[in-house]
Amino acid sequence: MSRIIEKMYVDGQWVESQSGEVRELVNPATEEYLASVTEGTIEDTKSAIEAARRAFDEDDWAFSKARERAALLLKAADLLEQKIDEISLLETLNNGKPLRESSYDVSDAVDQLRYYAGIATKPHGQTFDVPDEMTSSVVREPIGVVGQIIPWNYPLVMAVQKIAPAIAAGCTLVIKPAEQTPLTLIRFFEILDQVGFPKGVVNLVLGSGKTVGAELARNELVDKIAFTGGTETGRAIMISAAQTIKKVGLELGGKSPNIVFADADFETAVDYALYAIYANQGQVCSAGSRLLLEETIYDKFVEELVARAEQIEVGDGTSPTTEMGPLISETQMNRVLHYIELGKSEGATLLCGGKRLDRNGYFIEPTIFTHTTPNMRIVQEEIFGPMLVIQTFKTEEEAIRLANGTKYGLAGAVFTSDVAKAHRVIRKLRAGITWINTYHPTYNEAPWGGYKQSGIGRELGTFGLEAYLEVKQINVNLQVEPTHWFKKRQPKTNETVS
Ligand code: NAI
Ligand code: MG
Repeated sequence: MSRIIEKMYVDGQWVESQSGEVRELVNPATEEYLASVTEGTIEDTKSAIEAARRAFDEDDWAFSKARERAALLLKAADLLEQKIDEISLLETLNNGKPLRESSYDVSDAVDQLRYYAGIATKPHGQTFDVPDEMTSSVVREPIGVVGQIIPWNYPLVMAVQKIAPAIAAGCTLVIKPAEQTPLTLIRFFEILDQVGFPKGVVNLVLGSGKTVGAELARNELVDKIAFTGGTETGRAIMISAAQTIKKVGLELGGKSPNIVFADADFETAVDYALYAIYANQGQVCSAGSRLLLEETIYDKFVEELVARAEQIEVGDGTSPTTEMGPLISETQMNRVLHYIELGKSEGATLLCGGKRLDRNGYFIEPTIFTHTTPNMRIVQEEIFGPMLVIQTFKTEEEAIRLANGTKYGLAGAVFTSDVAKAHRVIRKLRAGITWINTYHPTYNEAPWGGYKQSGIGRELGTFGLEAYLEVKQINVNLQVEPTHWFKKRQPKTNETVS
């Protein structure tokens, strides 16, 4: 049987890697063969960057009309919307997440395209009332060629949340999906091809982080690098990008606290504590991976939490009754299993889960550890799997101190029925994405990003557009005559003798 080899999209053409290498993908729920994709190289990446550079510098995409760019994004949104079911299923087959999550993600991507189509034509300049006979104004201009590196936990939606603002801004781009999850982005590029972007404006290169990703971060023809992924990889990208003073946008890891006070609505707090950690199998940068419980409700809360965690239906994401799917890969599964062993050896108590399911696929049971201390590695490090750690506190001050006690600062939530206390605590959290009496809902209108080692810059909303724009001031003289700051030309001596 001859297998179809999925291609990359470079300079308006579907191409195979110059090396001819192929990567085979497996379905993480079955470990069975899923697809073959061409494996891009450094040379392929350079070709794509050069195409994006030509489209920006020579083909005048930089001066394309906002209205035309908006129309292209709207057309892409309509075509993607028509394919929500097909692309959601493909996301589940490739990534493992349950279908209800995949279809939410694809709808969200449609919404992002429409949001940035709308914002592209809205005013984004400023003028200033300045002294002298002048006007002074600011215009926003596209940054240029951008490199975008995407992780495997939200393969399509995280790509679209970078592509849509870059196009709205008038940039050209080279995007690299995670090597494990290129399939839905390939389908989306078929849509972009159909929509009719000028060649070189949008480019898709498939391949590994160490080759394709590293070249995007290093190449001097790239003006900005936007990355979502682990903090260690983000650090390497920033170091590399420093050589050419690239603009960097980094959306990195987290170890986010979910703080529950004794006066919280009990059922709601338990419900969201589960959702905070087990949505997308815990492979979420903003996951509520640390549950901070007020001591007085500890026993009651933990009893209910464990009972409900144990009844979560883990299985193939394509089954309509599945509530939690497999991890993305054997590597990630082993990484989480390693943390489970570490938790035991550090002296924490395993309350439930802790094992791989006895079947094919990279499934791990919903897992909870308690009796932790703040310096344990399972409390400090991002695990990125279905593993919750519990910490307890006595006072509001202690809750805040524990909540802020990691190197990360991505997200955090507080559950309480005391409005003033909720706001006091949220204001003291060193984190970019926060909730009161809920966990996880965020909107394309609002900025996404972290404090501390969780990243640099913001995506989504108006902030996400700014991330792809340069700022230029233009000063115009309204009195076009010399000032004679330096004295006028003196008549030559022989001329003055009359
Ligand atoms: P990673 O951060 O290394 O991979 C994410 C993307 O970066 C992929 O497209 C990969 O090909 C690319 N990449 C890898 N090395 C690169 C390099 N040197 N230069 C340029 N691009 C590079 O994530 P990985 O290794 O799959 O997972 C390790 C840990 O990272 C996870 O356990 C989790 O803690 C964290 N992570 C966090 C994510 C988030 O959304 N914040 C997403 C994925 C992983
Ligand atoms: Mg890595």
